[in-house]
Amino acid sequence: MQKVTINKILKKKNKIPITCLTAYSKTIAQIADKYCDIILVGDSLGMVLYGMKTTREVKIETMILHGKTVKNSTKKSLVVFDMPYKTYTNKFVAYKNARKVIKLTKCDAIKLEGGKKIVKIIRYLTKRGIPVMGHVGLLPQTSTNFKTKGKNFAEKKQIFEDAIDVSNSGAFAIVIECVPENLAKKITKNVSIPTIGIGASMHCDGQILVTDDMIGLSDFLPKFVKQYSNLKKVIEKCIKNYSEDVKLRRFPSSKNVYN
Ligand code: KIV
Repeated sequence: MQKVTINKILKKKNKIPITCLTAYSKTIAQIADKYCDIILVGDSLGMVLYGMKTTREVKIETMILHGKTVKNSTKKSLVVFDMPYKTYTNKFVAYKNARKVIKLTKCDAIKLEGGKKIVKIIRYLTKRGIPVMGHVGLLPQTSTNFKTKGKNFAEKKQIFEDAIDVSNSGAFAIVIECVPENLAKKITKNVSIPTIGIGASMHCDGQILVTDDMIGLSDFLPKFVKQYSNLKKVIEKCIKNYSEDVKLRRFPSSKNVYN
C-alpha cells in the first residue's frame, strides 16, 4: 500500500479523478483509507456528530481528538485537518495553531476556508512547510445561508478570482463548494492545482462528500449528495429488534452466556 503524497495528488490533475471523503472516527477512517486519496477531518463534525447549528461552534481541541483518531487509523490516504472558525484570524495565529495541530495529530495538511482575504495566510504557512488545501464558493464558517454561490455575475467573478488567488498562493488543492457547473469548469481549467468539488459538478479534478450524508446517517440530503445507503434505517431496525428481544427475554440467549 503506497502512501498518497501531495505530489501524487498534484499529478492527478486533468488525468485521474481524486476521491475524497470526510472521516471523524476510527472505523470510517479505516474503510475510507482503502478507497480514498484524501480523507478530510471536516469541521462539519460539529453539525453531523455534535448537533451544533453551525460549524462556528467547533473548538480546535475537539478537532484535534478526531484528527488524532483518523490519522492513527489510516495508512495510505492523505489526511487533511479542517482548521475551525477563528483559528486562522491572521498569519501568526494560523501558524501557531497549524503547527500545534500537525504536531499533535500528525495530519498531512490543513484546510482553510476563504479566498483573497486569506491569501497572505496561505502563503505564510506554505512557505513554512505546512501544506494547505483551500476552500472557495460556499464557505460554511462564514456564510449566512447554505445556498448555491456564484449564481450572479459579481459573485461568479469574486469566486473565480478567489480560486485563482488561492491557487497562486501555494495551496496544493482547492475545494469548490456549491457553485454552478460552468463556474467550477472555468476554475478547474484556469488553476494549476486540483479542484475538489462538493456540489460543483463532474468538471472538478476530484470529488468530496460528507460521509455521513452519503451513507444516510445524517438528515442532510441536498441535490448534490448521492445517498448510497440508508444506515439510519438499518441502525433503527437493529435497535428496535434488540429492544424487543430484551423485553421478551429473547436476549441474552444461551449463546451469549458464560458457563
Ligand atoms: O467540513 C467539511 O466536511 C468540509 C467539506 C464539506 C468539504 O469542509
